[in-house]
Amino acid sequence: MSDNKTATQRTTIVCTTIKDVRSEIDKLKKSGKKIGFVPTMGALHAGHLSLIQHAREKSDAVVVSIFVNPTQFGPNEDYDSYPRQVESDIKDCEQEGVSIVFVPDRGEVYDEKNYLNITVEELNNHMCGGSRPGFFEGILLIVNKLFNIIKPDVAVFGQKDIQQVQIIRQMVHEFNHDIEILCASIVRANDGLALSSRNMYLDENERVIAPSLYRALHYIESQVMSGVDTPKLLLDHQKSELEAKGLEIDYLNVFDKKTLQPVPVLSKGSEYIIAGAVYLGETRLIDNILIEL
Ligand code: PAF
Repeated sequence: MSDNKTATQRTTIVCTTIKDVRSEIDKLKKSGKKIGFVPTMGALHAGHLSLIQHAREKSDAVVVSIFVNPTQFGPNEDYDSYPRQVESDIKDCEQEGVSIVFVPDRGEVYDEKNYLNITVEELNNHMCGGSRPGFFEGILLIVNKLFNIIKPDVAVFGQKDIQQVQIIRQMVHEFNHDIEILCASIVRANDGLALSSRNMYLDENERVIAPSLYRALHYIESQVMSGVDTPKLLLDHQKSELEAKGLEIDYLNVFDKKTLQPVPVLSKGSEYIIAGAVYLGETRLIDNILIEL
């Protein structure tokens, strides 16, 4: 630890092993505390802090995990360069009144070879699952492990990763985890850009262009809410506008909130996700808006 405090002086307990985190959580549970959990990959920003605040409101003691999970990165993705700043993350957690930060290393969580996997059917065919093979399998693997280690009462995830939230809800349902899953709203910069650890990859120029994705989603939302029920032309037009600004489109579409399939014709009384992912230089940006017609 680079700061002067010893582990015992910290108000936040930092655990690196499963054995230690389990024993600390046991103590909290024995004293009747409801455990709120916020899993993260670190590089905490105001979006994560809002998840922690949400967890604090819904529980008596918050546990945050910081682990850059290798199994959710593809071979050509940014696992090695993903921002790592554990010391400042722990300080942020202390400031937010987090009870326990769990920071395992790779060997603590994964064996050299895993014989089992979790597969996802259909829910990962589109959106981020469509362009990141194995991504949600990797997420379910780690979240399942973390749920079994922490055994929280509630876990909070961010709406920015809405496909992740919905697939985790399905896992909790199908695997009978006794955990309430909460979804916290997206935190945005003043110009609308959804906060993300990957925003730190953007150069000055790219940072100016980046909020265009949110503006496009917002425009689509306004059109759909005022009666456009077959959004194809609208989507095509917004894609061209984004491309003209130098963004490469991964996807931009309206999806059913439960099945996560694209919906060509929208109907009243249904819930949808207007979602997009774009590349700006090397950086992949995602964002979404939830609507109910
Ligand atoms: O949303 C994230 O940061 C990650 O996907 C999660 C849930 C911490 C699993 O690694």
